[in-house]
Amino acid sequence: MTMQLEPMDVLVIGGGGREHALVWKLRQSPQVRRVFAAPGNPGMAGVERLSLSTLDELAEFAVRERIGLTVVGPEAPLCDGIVDLFRARGLRIFGPDRNAAQLEGSKAYAKDFMARHGIPTAASATFTDGAAAAAYVRAQGAPIVVKADGLAAGKGVVVAATVDEALAAVTDCFAGAFGDAGRTVVVEECLVGEEASILAITDGDTILPLASAQDHKRIGDGDTGPNTGGMGAYSPAPVVTPELWAVIQHEVLDRFLAGCRADRLDYRGVIYAGVMVTAGGPKILEFNVRFGDPETQPILMRLDNDLAEVLAAAADRRLGEVTLHWADDAAVCVVMAAQGYPGAYPKGAVITGIPEAEKLGAAVFHAGTALNPAGQTVTAGGRVLGVTARGATIHDAVVKAYAAVACIHWDGAQYRRDIAARALNREA
Ligand code: AMP
Ligand code: GLY
Repeated sequence: MTMQLEPMDVLVIGGGGREHALVWKLRQSPQVRRVFAAPGNPGMAGVERLSLSTLDELAEFAVRERIGLTVVGPEAPLCDGIVDLFRARGLRIFGPDRNAAQLEGSKAYAKDFMARHGIPTAASATFTDGAAAAAYVRAQGAPIVVKADGLAAGKGVVVAATVDEALAAVTDCFAGAFGDAGRTVVVEECLVGEEASILAITDGDTILPLASAQDHKRIGDGDTGPNTGGMGAYSPAPVVTPELWAVIQHEVLDRFLAGCRADRLDYRGVIYAGVMVTAGGPKILEFNVRFGDPETQPILMRLDNDLAEVLAAAADRRLGEVTLHWADDAAVCVVMAAQGYPGAYPKGAVITGIPEAEKLGAAVFHAGTALNPAGQTVTAGGRVLGVTARGATIHDAVVKAYAAVACIHWDGAQYRRDIAARALNREA
């Protein structure tokens, strides 16, 4: 059964691949009239792009244009209180409020939350003093993980193979390498296993898991080289077996919801648990308070529901009325990145072949692109495109996605050749 919403205009905050996938899906809703994106990106067809910078300007715009639903992509505006601001002005917005967004904004806060509510995670200790952190590292030995507290644009985590490397990370944190994010440091047990991304939509009363996904964090094939924002993703992730789902539902999602209630968190948004599947069961590496990027691209491709209806229901605390439906297939997203990423990279290279890739049935989600004065699509970020395809199996989706990738060219394009390799091994 579908709920009838008034036709509405929608505003999406953000401009990456995740937001492109969100507007792509929202535009398929018969209940969505106009779609605005701030700042959006050049790949977003049929979307009016806004160059508003402050949260106040965004709220003003939403009031003036009577925006019926605002969806927030990135974590920074959530941590800055965009949800609180919009709700104070009577606007409907999908996302956790500022207080609840600390689950991503502060690793120390998230660790406390998990400990209080019995959510399995790595053993850890939190320090505000460098000498004490160093003493703990020496006592624990390596391998060990050092995390700067606070948002560090994905760069604040060091998985140290040796005590010296861990001590250097502690020193870097307290020396200000991650700004304010390093004044508190979490030192954590190093977990071994396969990672999965578990996302769920909640309104505080009901929690609906999304299809499972797996990301590829390292730049290089075989999970080598430095960490990135994510070089590709696929859904479903066969590592998440039905048995594992049952444990995750009980030990992670149900306890998360109970924890939100006990702590009186106003959580009407998506919660993303980075899970390590260890020999001792699933353990949470981190919470994100937003959709994953690039996991959202393949996940949304497989969602049969009207996304506007689902997100509006969560914002209105009516999620109990919703059942999610998933296509019984697979989707794979291959991220194409600029040469040098995740380090420094050039901008402005002309991209060709996107229409040819789309003709093969792939969705090419833009992340870091711009239009040059000649109207050509050029590179403008580290992660440039997310080439996403569906298939009956992961194997079919992989073949289609890479066929589409092969159509696309720019000078210095780099991408991993082994996206979904783990799933393919399991399928075989
Ligand atoms: P985070 O930003 O906390 O997700 O960390 C980034 C990446 O570092 C994760 O995706 C993992 O690959 C790795 N990582 C984080 N915490 C741990 C841990 N306790 N043990 C092993 N690897 C970890
Ligand atoms: N793909 C990792 C993230 O969104 O944080």
